[in-house]
Amino acid sequence: MGYYIIEGGPKLIGEVDISGSKNAALPIIAASILNKGITVIENVPNIRDVKMMCSILEAVGCAITRDNGKIIIDATDLQSSEIPEKLMHEMRSSVIIVGALLGRMHECKFTYPGGCEIGARPINLHLEAFKQLGVELCEDNGFINCKCNKLNGTEIVLDFPSVGATENIMLASTLAEGTTYIKNVAREPEIKNLQDFLNSMGASVHGAGSNTIVVNGVPKLHDCTFSIIPDRIEAGTYLCMAAATKGEIKINHVNPEHISSIIHKLKQINCKVGISKEAVFLRANKELISTNIKTMPYPGFPTDMQSQFVTLLSITNGTSIVVENIFENRFKYVNGLIKMGANITLEGRTAIIQGVKELSAANVEAKELRGGAALVTAALAAKGVSMVSEIEYLERGYENLVEKLTILGAKITKQ
Ligand code: EPZ
Repeated sequence: MGYYIIEGGPKLIGEVDISGSKNAALPIIAASILNKGITVIENVPNIRDVKMMCSILEAVGCAITRDNGKIIIDATDLQSSEIPEKLMHEMRSSVIIVGALLGRMHECKFTYPGGCEIGARPINLHLEAFKQLGVELCEDNGFINCKCNKLNGTEIVLDFPSVGATENIMLASTLAEGTTYIKNVAREPEIKNLQDFLNSMGASVHGAGSNTIVVNGVPKLHDCTFSIIPDRIEAGTYLCMAAATKGEIKINHVNPEHISSIIHKLKQINCKVGISKEAVFLRANKELISTNIKTMPYPGFPTDMQSQFVTLLSITNGTSIVVENIFENRFKYVNGLIKMGANITLEGRTAIIQGVKELSAANVEAKELRGGAALVTAALAAKGVSMVSEIEYLERGYENLVEKLTILGAKITKQ
């Protein structure tokens, strides 16, 4: 496992280009196997999770070529409907392939993806929905075998607006017979991007962004070329890093609408934030002040920005309260912040943050993707030289992190 050496202090100043969205790219790459042909996906970030998703597609028989940010997927002949156990455990979002394999092959064999550092992350909502679509599931020493003669459109009501379950049901019902109504769905921008992708292949999916998605099953799909939306969480992460270092940055290739809840909170803590059609500008030259945050499903404040914002609030004036409503265990990174001098008390899903004047450098471990981003943010603002280890977690979701931060004036090297 590699590590970053970060000398804190320099203000982040300049411009950064946001990459394609990890959380849009993963379900769209999975969905490409619904088309018995060739699919071209553009603006795909070059990150570990995308590589892992492509490895799963190759394991079931797809031929994949990469050309910079473009991926060409030939899913004409699939040979297997089994998801490799190792890849399933390494990346829980592989479960999104199940819906695509069921849609294409009417069968799939996989293991439970397992939890991770932020929670148990069960897939009960996915499995219940597959059963309602006519899939027979049976468990056999840790594997789940799914089979059906055909998929039948039906009405599915989600207990919780799960992003992954929403996406999986969309994929499983795209080629089903009849219409599927999915209610209480996730409304994240990545769901709309997936809907647009499916429709560009000839599917008939409507309602993404509202609380009900309607999927009219079609007999087959066709080739297409499609571009991934910008990564709203990467954009929010750089805004937090700039604010933490009292910097001034412009982030390009972002949809400001997708990060309106983050912009609202940045303004609330005294950052100056301006927007244009595809860019956001931030200046943090005033004393930052405390605020309160509750993470919620989109369009509420995103859970994937919780840890980066807690870092920011740990060096603002006053007391802030952050409640994590989406995952049951998403404060593990706080130990690293406390090691750097933050004053944070955890009570279940609530963090009580007493702002301190300055953090001090320390050696810390990135235990998961967004917690790792929080620790990098802290190291950029802290006095002294920090080491952030286990950076493979960060490289799962942030393309060219060292290069982008270096251009903004950060003193960061990868070892
Ligand atoms: C997606 O995960 C994202 N990952 C996560 O981003 C993000 O944090 C999450 O949505 C919420 O926005 C990708 O898109 C690849 P969920 P997902 O199903 O689909 C519970 C990142 O940092 N739940 O909406 O797994 C679950 O335990 C990652 O980029 C069930 O109980 O999230 C959690 O508490 C981290 N049963 C809540 O719902 C189920 O069957 C939200 O999970 C499914 C979910």
